Amino acid sequence: MIYISPSMLSCDFSKMGEEALAMVKGGADMLHLDIMDGHFVPNITFGAPVIKCLRPLTKAVFDTHLMISDPDKYIKDFAKAGSDIITFHIESNSDVVETINLIKSFGIKAGLSVKPNTPIEEVYPYLDMLDMVLVMTVEPGFGGQSFMENMMDKIIKLKAKCAEINKENLLIQVDGGISEKTVAIATSAGANVIVAGSALFSQENYQDAISKLRECAYAPLK
Ligand code: DX5
Ligand code: ZN
Repeated sequence: MIYISPSMLSCDFSKMGEEALAMVKGGADMLHLDIMDGHFVPNITFGAPVIKCLRPLTKAVFDTHLMISDPDKYIKDFAKAGSDIITFHIESNSDVVETINLIKSFGIKAGLSVKPNTPIEEVYPYLDMLDMVLVMTVEPGFGGQSFMENMMDKIIKLKAKCAEINKENLLIQVDGGISEKTVAIATSAGANVIVAGSALFSQENYQDAISKLRECAYAPLK
């Protein structure tokens, strides 16, 4: 199964609720919520209060991506606001095991992300505890950047590692530069959770945009 998670970073923030609902109605499996603190990455987005406002609108899975230096301080807020999955960066200041346990203490899923320069082997010690690994295919911080195809080796290695340790149910997420042109490269490498921001929100009809992206994502698997 391949999941499509539109990144709300590219939505029209003056009507974020409507935009989220339109994506869900258009077939989105999750909503990707990019949290940036102006410290871990050179950009600032929104915080837990915004997620709390979106929560009553839909039952969609809220896939929260924390690009922040100190995840531990805010996990509780993001969990209580209604996140279903919280992903944090291995490059942040957190103690990885403690942060994963903290996320799980709220009964939600835990994800760990690697920036482009971080070797994938760094997540191996934690695979047992994780629900998802996010392999960034751009430097985190901004939407609309170009897909880094050379990150696919990490996905291939990660998939092989999961097979070796019987962890085939790990979700493998890709984020950054995903479009109809690049998505098949990611899914053929083994990614199964697809984040797309600008490629989806730039289109008039979100339902068509998601269906086309999904079709391209499944193409190499047929
Ligand atoms: C980048 C964010 C991404 C971003 C993706 O730091 O984590 O989720 O919004 O945007 P696109 O799909 O436009 O590259
Ligand atoms: Zn993201």
